[in-house]
Amino acid sequence: MKLCTIIGARPQFIKTAAVSRAIAEHNRVKTQSSNITEIIIHTGQHYDDEMSAIFFRELEIPEPKHNLNIGSGAHGKQTGEMLAAIEKVLIKENPNWVLVYGDTNSTLSGALAAAKLHIPIAHIEAGLRSYNRLMPEEINRVVADHISHLLLCPSQVAVNNLSAEGISKGVKIVGDVMADALQFAVRHIQTKADIKKKFQLQNKTYLLATIHRAENTDNKKRLQNIISALNALEETIILPIHPRTRKILHDMNLLLKPHVRIIDPVGYFDMIALEYSARMILTDSGGIQKEAYWLKVPCITLRDETEWVETVENGWNKLTGANTIAIIDAVHNFMPPAEQATLYGDGQAASRVLQEILNYTERK
Ligand code: UD1
Ligand code: UDP
Repeated sequence: MKLCTIIGARPQFIKTAAVSRAIAEHNRVKTQSSNITEIIIHTGQHYDDEMSAIFFRELEIPEPKHNLNIGSGAHGKQTGEMLAAIEKVLIKENPNWVLVYGDTNSTLSGALAAAKLHIPIAHIEAGLRSYNRLMPEEINRVVADHISHLLLCPSQVAVNNLSAEGISKGVKIVGDVMADALQFAVRHIQTKADIKKKFQLQNKTYLLATIHRAENTDNKKRLQNIISALNALEETIILPIHPRTRKILHDMNLLLKPHVRIIDPVGYFDMIALEYSARMILTDSGGIQKEAYWLKVPCITLRDETEWVETVENGWNKLTGANTIAIIDAVHNFMPPAEQATLYGDGQAASRVLQEILNYTERK
């Protein structure tokens, strides 16, 4: 079976790593007849070394056969150029399946290109909703879900969201491939992460922050509020900065005080090591909210809503929006409960993804 994986943004490389590892394992133990050939198509949405190549190197992701080098741009231009370029490749490769992840513009264009060519689509991380259509990601995930054949969900909440939109066919709970990725990283951070030594960080003596979401970076008031909160705190804050945010802070001349240590984006092992030892995480990232939960690090989410509602319901994640006072208050007072429920699967999602694709193929 030939499967084309379409990816382009940082979190998708991390998720792909888990699935590609499962494919290699599947091919090692299974008979030749169910062999899976994975062809990776990299749209080029992310292209800086520390946003892309570092993940392929560190996580030993198979080299993309096609790198479309689309790069940055306005949503319509970026998505349109990806669509045209992916279509050409899919016609050439003629795969049995297309695999897309999450909710980026690479997800949308990959799914659209496949749908127009009548190639079955498996969507990993299906069913997530923020119910905020102003987010580009919400549009991407709604469209991808509605044109996918297999909707591979991390949780029952995701299944319920799809059901509310009339989608039940092809919906499967497989867990979250990010849990697989995290478990792999945790096994390797002792030998592969040296960031704490590099920055001389002691356990639980610093906060870790990330900011990149358009609703924060492209809204002057929200970004100012978040920066004011970070500046008002007295602890060391490590801020691996997304290139989008670096550029906007520079353009707006927004300055951070010296206790906020801005560093370049880091590789996955270093990031997990930073998260693991942080006293608390402040983020607007989707993936980092879950990693904080799994690593049992209290998380403050700099958004008004989240797709990962279970982390909030379980008391380990606090939504503060971009409200300066609420952020400062949460850093001082937020305290998760002692107990924690298991969320988003057991770290075996990637092999279930493959099983669901093979089951579907056999039934057809
Ligand atoms: C994208 C996704 C977002 C995801 C994030 C993961 C969409 C609509 N958004 O947001 O859901 O959470 O990736 O990190 O798909 N840039 C560089 N170098 C790079 C990549 C980006 O300098 O390697 C800069 C460019 O100025 C670019 C900006 O970052 O315009 C935004 O990049 P883009 O990929 O459009 O969106 P992200 O904010 O990364
Ligand atoms: N990440 C990383 N280095 C960084 C910042 C994030 O490896 O400097 C990892 C993080 O651990 C998580 C993923 O990237 O696994 C999240 O990506 P991002 O926040 O860019 O996107 P989102 O999850 O919000 O779509």
